[in-house]
Amino acid sequence: MGDIAEGETSFYSNAVDYWREVPPTVDGMLGGYGSISNIDINGSKAFLQKFLGEGEGKTGTECALDCGAGIGRITKRLLLPLFKTVDLVDVTQEFLDKAKTYLGEEGKRVGKYLCSGLQDLVPESGRYNVIWIQWVIGHLTDDHLVDFLQRCQKALRPNGLIIIKDNVSYEGVIPDEVDSSICRDLEIVHSLVGRAGLSILHEEQQTNFPKEIYQVHTLALR
Ligand SMILES: C[S@@+](CC[C@H](N)C(=O)[O-])C[C@H]1O[C@@H](n2cnc3c(N)ncnc32)[C@H](O)[C@@H]1O
Repeated sequence: MGDIAEGETSFYSNAVDYWREVPPTVDGMLGGYGSISNIDINGSKAFLQKFLGEGEGKTGTECALDCGAGIGRITKRLLLPLFKTVDLVDVTQEFLDKAKTYLGEEGKRVGKYLCSGLQDLVPESGRYNVIWIQWVIGHLTDDHLVDFLQRCQKALRPNGLIIIKDNVSYEGVIPDEVDSSICRDLEIVHSLVGRAGLSILHEEQQTNFPKEIYQVHTLALR
């Protein structure tokens, strides 16, 4: 194996090893920042509601996919209240197992629990109104992110949307050796979205997050 392939293999396997040791809690999902979950969900709700319902360019509420869902923090508070069916995908089986109890009664409306890396996932063609991808793109290489976004586009219903909500750096690519991820600047994220053939419909910065963490941006793509 060449150096690059080897580096890529350990980039993914180190992340799997990291997440396997993280407790299946909201605090675990947010790296100790469980207290920002409410602000995050409320910001996401306001963002997403602009695109749901009847009318020109809006999308329906049949089915959503939560990517890198973890224990289902977003599924529980954002997606299940808005969509009839929600599917979850995550690389960590233990988190999906926890989701089955964490989501409670409403969890009966989960369609599929998929244990897979996003780099390997082929989401079902034409199934989703919304594909939500939050705090996980830094675990994919550039090429895998572009390919995944292209597969997501094929998995959308008419007028469906892909939402990326993630940390952005001020400049360049900042590696995180602890969880084996990277943080990209907004310009790089834009260029990868463009390479995937997607357009940005709307973009916002999440407000009211603690000053010491990365800026978080939400992008609606189609
Ligand atoms: C920071 S947590 C975010 C969880 C959730 N999106 C949220 O905001 O509550 C990152 C999640 O991504 C998952 N993950 C890491 N690498 C992944 C990959 N390559 N494919 C799919 N999921 C991955 C981890 O298991 C973990 O659940």
